[in-house]
Amino acid sequence: MSERVLAPFGRRRCEVSANRASGGYRVISALDSEGPQPRAGQFYMLASDGWGGLDGRPYLPRAFSVAAAEPAGEGVRLEFLLEAVGPGTALLAGLAPGDSLHLTGPLGRPFSAPHELAPGADGAVLVGGGIGIAPLALLRRELADRGVPQRTLLGFRDRAHSGGLELFDCSEIRMASEDGHSGHQGYVTELLGVLLEGDDAGSAVVYACGPPAMLEAVRLMCGERGARAELAMETPMACGFGSCFGCAVPAASGGYIRLCVDGPTVAADEIESALVAGSGH
Ligand SMILES: Cc1cc2nc3c(=O)[nH]c(=O)nc-3n(C[C@H](O)[C@H](O)[C@H](O)COP(=O)(O)OP(=O)(O)OC[C@H]3O[C@@H](n4cnc5c(N)ncnc54)[C@H](O)[C@@H]3O)c2cc1C
Ligand code: FES
Repeated sequence: MSERVLAPFGRRRCEVSANRASGGYRVISALDSEGPQPRAGQFYMLASDGWGGLDGRPYLPRAFSVAAAEPAGEGVRLEFLLEAVGPGTALLAGLAPGDSLHLTGPLGRPFSAPHELAPGADGAVLVGGGIGIAPLALLRRELADRGVPQRTLLGFRDRAHSGGLELFDCSEIRMASEDGHSGHQGYVTELLGVLLEGDDAGSAVVYACGPPAMLEAVRLMCGERGARAELAMETPMACGFGSCFGCAVPAASGGYIRLCVDGPTVAADEIESALVAGSGH
């Protein structure tokens, strides 16, 4: 299992350096001058000024995967890809350069290296759906830096619910869209099915992040074909560091795991199902 990078104690203030549109999503950049370089799959609890406003919403910080992290001066430039779906993401989507971003992190368990998931693995297949592509963007860079061959498959519902492709910094992405606006018309898991039938995919491990139905399809497909898979999952998270138990999901071996500390990346056979109540959006 890959070493997690530990968060400094407490919440810190960072300055937003950019907020740009990326298709139907936003990319928020901020300089974290006190934090460490995070690993792909880890996340931050984010909040901004205006949190807990007049009607009290949003009250708790919200969890976001780190999509890019580059050393910059004395710190790390972090990028988050977000889709405005509620009061927290609406506030974050409206941040301007110079505004404050309050963050805690990096939190959680990063993606494992391919050989940690399957000793003979010599490649990786990245499968992302919707806003779930965020942690795969940083994973792609980490794998490329280590010289791991990889294929990237990304799927979106429609043009309005897509974006973030430039974070992948590569042209070899196979796309799927439900409305047919880009690439294969259908689900990204159909592209995965074709790949898993091919000769060259036998020794690859699969990394996936996306809506629960997509993750469950990936989990079942990989299980049937004997391919090792690791999933980055979402549940509502109140604390992000193990104390509220709000993120517990049933483990395949019985009992529960807390996704914020035992995940959000989990081996596909570690959980009973990726169809977890309250997850995804
Ligand atoms: C580890 C992790 C990583 C994540 N990474 C990202 C990321 O990179 N980018 C990103 O955009 N998001 C990410 N998320 C998801 C994000 O944290 C949530 O969507 C967050 O709750 C959004 O906050 P909000 O205040 O905008 O919306 P919320 O008010 O929390 O609502 C979120 C969703 O739930 C629905 N909802 C709210 N209340 C109800 C209700 N009573 N009944 C039914 N539905 C309801 C809303 O319509 C919306 O679709 C991640 C989550 C986790 C756990
Ligand atoms: S979010 Fe609080 S224990 Fe996981």
